[in-house]
Amino acid sequence: MTKHTITLIPGDGIGPEIADSTRKIIDATGLKIDWEVCEAGDAAFKKGIGTGVPNETIESLERNKIAIKGPLSTPVGYGEKSANVTLRKLFETYGNIRPIKEFLGVQTPYSGRNLDLVIVRENLEDLYAGIEYMQTPGVSECLKLISRKGSEKVIRLAFEFARSQNRKTVTCASKANIMKLTEGLFKRTFEDVAKDYPDIEAHHVIVDNAAHQLVKKPEQFDVLVMTNMNGDILSDLSSALVGGLGFAPGANIGDKYAIFEAVHGTAPKYAGTNTINPTALILSGVMMLRHIGAIEEANMIEEAITYTLGVDRYFTRDICPPKMTAKTTSEYTDCIIKNFGKKTETYQAREHKLMKLPKVSTRPDFVTVKDRKVVGFDLFVETVKKPKEVGVFFEALLEKTSFKLSCISTRGVKVYPTLKDLDDGADMLTVRVMAKDQSLDVIDCDITDILLQLGSEIRWTHVEKLNVFDGVLGYTKVHGEN
Ligand code: NAI
Repeated sequence: MTKHTITLIPGDGIGPEIADSTRKIIDATGLKIDWEVCEAGDAAFKKGIGTGVPNETIESLERNKIAIKGPLSTPVGYGEKSANVTLRKLFETYGNIRPIKEFLGVQTPYSGRNLDLVIVRENLEDLYAGIEYMQTPGVSECLKLISRKGSEKVIRLAFEFARSQNRKTVTCASKANIMKLTEGLFKRTFEDVAKDYPDIEAHHVIVDNAAHQLVKKPEQFDVLVMTNMNGDILSDLSSALVGGLGFAPGANIGDKYAIFEAVHGTAPKYAGTNTINPTALILSGVMMLRHIGAIEEANMIEEAITYTLGVDRYFTRDICPPKMTAKTTSEYTDCIIKNFGKKTETYQAREHKLMKLPKVSTRPDFVTVKDRKVVGFDLFVETVKKPKEVGVFFEALLEKTSFKLSCISTRGVKVYPTLKDLDDGADMLTVRVMAKDQSLDVIDCDITDILLQLGSEIRWTHVEKLNVFDGVLGYTKVHGEN
């Protein structure tokens, strides 16, 4: 029998209790696992480690490649970063897999519908890169960065995961109808990647409709794949369909490392009370066992959980029906171990194969083009002047240059030239400046020349180049622009 060494981070709040329960259950399967117990979160912050993750923990994960962790509390109101985000970024776990599965005995409005779907969420990009700026004292900005490579990796992961569980469909949920370049890139990548998986049906759904459908008819979904924020919101929503955070496990998958953790946080109010529900972390452990090929042991734990909830009706406080006495975390844990090998009528293990990790080129220039040029630039300016006044100013300024004013917009809507003034603006306008000769490639010093001529009247906040790659516009038209 192969012996595995796994990094175990008990974490903060209720973390040590659920980690203890998970470890006890996995050990009871007879698997030979050496647990390397490591610190992260509060304990590290208290020692002055600003990232929340000590070097020994990083080294342990580098050695073992696999970790299971309890929740880590994020310091609020002082400078430190989230230790969770540190781990995610450091080990480049680009994909987050969150299964949503109904358990016999756990009463929800959806009970009996046999929900068994999986949300695969991109884990490193999107608005959660946290790149934000105040453009003016009253206007903020967050950059939504989506790469073709990042999208391709997580989408391939979704298809590979579907194959490993013999699932039939993968649905991409996106907001490509509005965010045509970012969410649109994700959708187009999905359509390209899907061609490599002819054995799996591929669908697309607009993400707001996905939210609606997940509440109305969740059983229609099998595997869903999404960008970071959409996936975050919809996976939390979906966990409520099967009993809430106590039943929401997760896996963070990277090319070289995998970190398994429950979706929920540290629930500090219940720390040390022996009352919380350890199922989400135990199920994260089940995912981990499948990841390392211990499929029989994983199924045995999953069926024992089904027996414990559905037949013995052992419930922890969070899901205990009125008139029943809630079991403690340790009673529930011991009951699962006692139920190893017991069969329930409803439990049927899915077919599981070892998941093949996607192989995607690591080249930074993942997408190359034959032809590219800059045809103009958007200048974001802070001003309280009327758009018309700013328009006239720029028309005069650009008259003797190689540029012309195309339009002025505010928050994506054209406000100059326009037939009607908007009543309620902000103190930020976007001035779209185009080269008079669209066949030429604008050079940087032409742009900086314009910036130098602005003077003190107009304060620019940032500049975006307008690229055309292989004849395709690398920017979106403003609402109302021709
Ligand atoms: P939380 O998930 O800790 O709690 C939300 C609600 O769910 C609370 O009512 C809590 O009592 C309940 N709950 C959570 N897990 C439960 C379980 N296993 N059994 C029974 N009830 C459970 O979220 P909250 O309060 O927003 O965050 C608390 C701390 O956890 C914060 O410092 C936050 O940053 C951190 N956190 C860490 C995460 C991680 O390490 N992956 C994820 C989410 C939050």
